[in-house]
Amino acid sequence: MTKLTGPKKIDTAVFISGTGTNLSSLIKFSLKKRSPIIIKVVVSNKSKAKGLNFAKKHKIKVNIFKFNLKDDQKILNFLSKNQIKLICLAGFMKILSKKFIKKFEGKILNIHPSLLPKYKGLNTHERVQKKNEKFSGCTVHLVNSKLKSEKIILKKKVKIFKKDTSKKLAKRILKQEHIIYPKAILKLLSSL
Ligand code: GRF
Repeated sequence: MTKLTGPKKIDTAVFISGTGTNLSSLIKFSLKKRSPIIIKVVVSNKSKAKGLNFAKKHKIKVNIFKFNLKDDQKILNFLSKNQIKLICLAGFMKILSKKFIKKFEGKILNIHPSLLPKYKGLNTHERVQKKNEKFSGCTVHLVNSKLKSEKIILKKKVKIFKKDTSKKLAKRILKQEHIIYPKAILKLLSSL
């Protein structure tokens, strides 16, 4: 009796620079039977990124690159050697070159801690509070090479309370990031 295996899982790379809590939640998601992805490699620009511990714990290949322009081809070669078809940026703090993005156009996702297109850039929690916004949130979007606004895949609104410190707001939003990232992957892959 031939073993019935489901559809081939999509070989995925996750890029991180820091704590890696989104990486951890993506690993958990990838290990679910029905998950459409398998995380083959974790890439970082920081050899000491705490999040790399999650990759090591799950015996996922790790590779560190400086992500300066001359690294592009090396990184692309590494990704193609591992048949990577989907890239998830998760707390990744380097800007990818246009050349790199073009190679993976439509297949690079990123999670951003605001309700895009509002509050692009850094320090989003402090900025929304300074503007007395009632809501903030998080957004998963496609990374594209053109300057036009990047295609939003999924976002989640989070209410801001008067007594919120930016740390407390960040913590509440981060929890929602872990929920919407896997959902955004399912939504993207079902639309391909
Ligand atoms: C998260 O707020 C994410 O939105 C931003 O980086 C922060 C840290 O994420 N891009 P992680 O814990 O490293 O996944």
